[in-house]
Amino acid sequence: MLAKWWKRVVVYQIYPKSFYDSDGDGIGDLNGITEKLDYLKELGVDVLWICPIYCSPMEDNGYDISDYYRVDPMFGSNADMDRLLCEAGKRGMKIILDLVVNHCSDEHAWFKKAVADPDCEEAGYFYFKNTADEEEPNNWCSNFGGSVWTRLADGRWYYHTFSKKQPDLNWENPKLREKVYEMINWWLDKGVAGFRVDAITFIKKDLSFKSRATEDGFRYPIENLTDYPGIGGFLTEMKEKCFDKHDCMTVAEAPGVGNETFREYAGEDGYFSMIFDFTWENMESEADKSSIEAVERLKKRIFDSQRFVSKAGWSAVFLENHDQSRCVNKYLEKENICFESASALATMYFFLYGTPFIYEGQEIGMTNAVWNSIGEMEDVRAKGKYKEAIERRQDPQKVLEYFSELGRDNSRTPMQWNSEENAGFTKGRPWIKVNENYKVINVEEQKTRSDSLLSYYKKLTALHHEDVYEDVFAEGSVRQILEDVPAVFAYEREWDGRAVTVVVNFKKGPQEIQGTKAEVLLNNHKTLCAKDGKLLLAPYQAVVFDGKI
Ligand code: NOJ
Repeated sequence: MLAKWWKRVVVYQIYPKSFYDSDGDGIGDLNGITEKLDYLKELGVDVLWICPIYCSPMEDNGYDISDYYRVDPMFGSNADMDRLLCEAGKRGMKIILDLVVNHCSDEHAWFKKAVADPDCEEAGYFYFKNTADEEEPNNWCSNFGGSVWTRLADGRWYYHTFSKKQPDLNWENPKLREKVYEMINWWLDKGVAGFRVDAITFIKKDLSFKSRATEDGFRYPIENLTDYPGIGGFLTEMKEKCFDKHDCMTVAEAPGVGNETFREYAGEDGYFSMIFDFTWENMESEADKSSIEAVERLKKRIFDSQRFVSKAGWSAVFLENHDQSRCVNKYLEKENICFESASALATMYFFLYGTPFIYEGQEIGMTNAVWNSIGEMEDVRAKGKYKEAIERRQDPQKVLEYFSELGRDNSRTPMQWNSEENAGFTKGRPWIKVNENYKVINVEEQKTRSDSLLSYYKKLTALHHEDVYEDVFAEGSVRQILEDVPAVFAYEREWDGRAVTVVVNFKKGPQEIQGTKAEVLLNNHKTLCAKDGKLLLAPYQAVVFDGKI
């Protein structure tokens, strides 16, 4: 039997607030996405993952949902969503939405009722605690800084993994779970092709809620309490009651899932179609990222993971998302960012075992922005962590530097469409600052240039879909080659007698490798030097070959 449809696609992630504003209010919207469908079709992507578009007070840009059934007016209407689904369908593209069910918003009707009446049914949808002495129920630290507990006027504490405006849902309660499943099925019946599933490994709590020891005396990070024993029951039920009934694609954000439980999550009959491979997302803090040692560390992480995943299941491979800094900044020193290095990075991950995801703007090489103060940032996490750092008497300048480099706002600056005002993103005032480099880096400039990064990404997607190779990428094995050649990423994909080889020299000097010049399918340089059974790779040269080399 041939691979599932979601093994054959290229996914494009849209952060709707920052993608394209069709009505001039400074905020991207659904009609803006519809207007850009032809651009996306031309780019060659098949599935669009749209970050949350539901009604929300926008504490965390939509990851705090106050009505799961309604599109927030800021993004348009449910009718706009129907139109987007229909227009995408006409172009052969599918849409997956973000499923945020670890928590909702404190402005959701359920939570409002629970606050008003401790004895109502909805009070059982959340975690409330009373303490005798007004002390926080425990010492756990939320993901956005500060306690996981917030106190209500009546003295009850409620639990939140993220901000206090994102109360956690109580998955122990079967009634709550039924409400969640009903909502999931409603969207699937409407025609969405699946979901990216947010923060799902947090839904099972350590119900003892006991304080935990920490070395530094500060609060215990909740991020250590993911994938908690017992979670499987909830996930199996959700799969059976929702996902299995539709031929849908689910990709879970599942922090904390290691090799021990990977199969349960993303194996052949896992809870989800795939989970994101986060094993190499956080390399940006590595010292001297262009050094051979740093590149070798990255290489090791990627191929250790590939060796494991290719035996155990399926994953989503990516370089960027809305929680990360831009990949060119993450993996390259500033002075080495150029077409060659950006396209080398792209080639390196695009044909790995898994479904490739492209994040908006990655295809034109958008970079981190320059942040002059924390006041310019919009991210609730950056603000919370900044406040916490000040309370801990850490140097504010250092904290600003940290978030300038690693902060989530870096990937949330508006999509750079052209060199006109606000990068062509909006006719109004953008909700977040536009990266100053939009006059140089934008879609318009790259669209017609055959040697642009955008044109290169089109070649990547085209090759991924080419009839003769599609099975190789969807079904084929992966094998690292040239392992010992410093800073060279090289691997073969193979299926049913056909092979593809990817070779990337990820450094600013040339590199000789053993190999013959098989048919070149893709090359980010104009030429490839071959002599006496050797290939001489130029700095940041990336080549994809038909067959083995
Ligand atoms: C993970 C999402 O990717 C992030 O943007 C969000 O802040 C948290 N989950 C909370 O929903």
